[in-house]
Amino acid sequence: MNSKTIMTGVFGYPIEQSLSPIMHNQAFRALGINFSYAAFAVAPDQLEQAVNGIRALGFAGVNVTIPHKVAIIPFLDEIDQEAEEIGAVNTIVNDGGKLIGFNTDGAGYVQSLLEEWKVPLTGKRVIILGAGGAAKGVAVSLAKRGVASICVVNRSVEKAEALAKQISHFTHSVSLSSDHLKAKDVEQVDLIINTTSVGMYPYEDNIPIDPSFLHPKLVVSDLIYNPLETKLLQEAKKIGARTHGGVGMFIHQGALAQQKWTGKQPPISLMKQTVLDQLQ
Ligand code: ATR
Repeated sequence: MNSKTIMTGVFGYPIEQSLSPIMHNQAFRALGINFSYAAFAVAPDQLEQAVNGIRALGFAGVNVTIPHKVAIIPFLDEIDQEAEEIGAVNTIVNDGGKLIGFNTDGAGYVQSLLEEWKVPLTGKRVIILGAGGAAKGVAVSLAKRGVASICVVNRSVEKAEALAKQISHFTHSVSLSSDHLKAKDVEQVDLIINTTSVGMYPYEDNIPIDPSFLHPKLVVSDLIYNPLETKLLQEAKKIGARTHGGVGMFIHQGALAQQKWTGKQPPISLMKQTVLDQLQ
């Protein structure tokens, strides 16, 4: 860092566990550009001042994470269309003092899925487990990229209904409460995505769906990346289904954000290795 360093970072609360700084700083170093990325613990009542700080201090932009992804929207000058459709922002770009909000979570998920799965999404039938913030990003992005149908399954059915309605402009969508999901609902499905926290460290023995519902034609995807292989993915592998872990989405959402700040192609493999080194 020197007097010409261009700052980026992440606003969250808490933020100490974030792997984003190490991932982005390694990438900046590899690209040979004078950028730096830091983690900022921004309390909810300080969010507006922190956003003004982006302008005042001339940051290229920041990421935004829990709990600020929705609350930050009123403080920005412009919201990109997909972020508006998702209803949440995870990336801000400072365009000469004008702050523009983007959401790279959903697009990052789709990129990582296509990188590993290499099959077009058009016509695919999807079940999404969960209906919170992460589910919204994934659901909107998939719905806009031509999947045939999305069934949103959630513990509280009201949230599942709301998300199914939100994506109904883009694809055929239905909702179901977790208790009512049956094996036959999964039979014709191509892709199941867990967006809930069920199975996350330190509760890695938990599983968000009855494993007897899984079948070998499925791609089973989990947004959780700690542990790297959740119980859900272990069970899916056992019966011969293809699996897709959560690290890819984390890398690609970061890479899409970084590209917006620097205008350069991020070194994806290095970013992935850096994150895996921290998790293994
Ligand atoms: P995120 O931004 O990570 O998606 P969130 O918005 O709090 O976080 O959403 C968490 C999701 O995980 C919700 O769908 C939640 O279900 P409810 O809407 O019923 O609360 C789901 N979830 C969390 N813990 C769960 C559990 N123990 N069993 C089932 N679902 C759970």
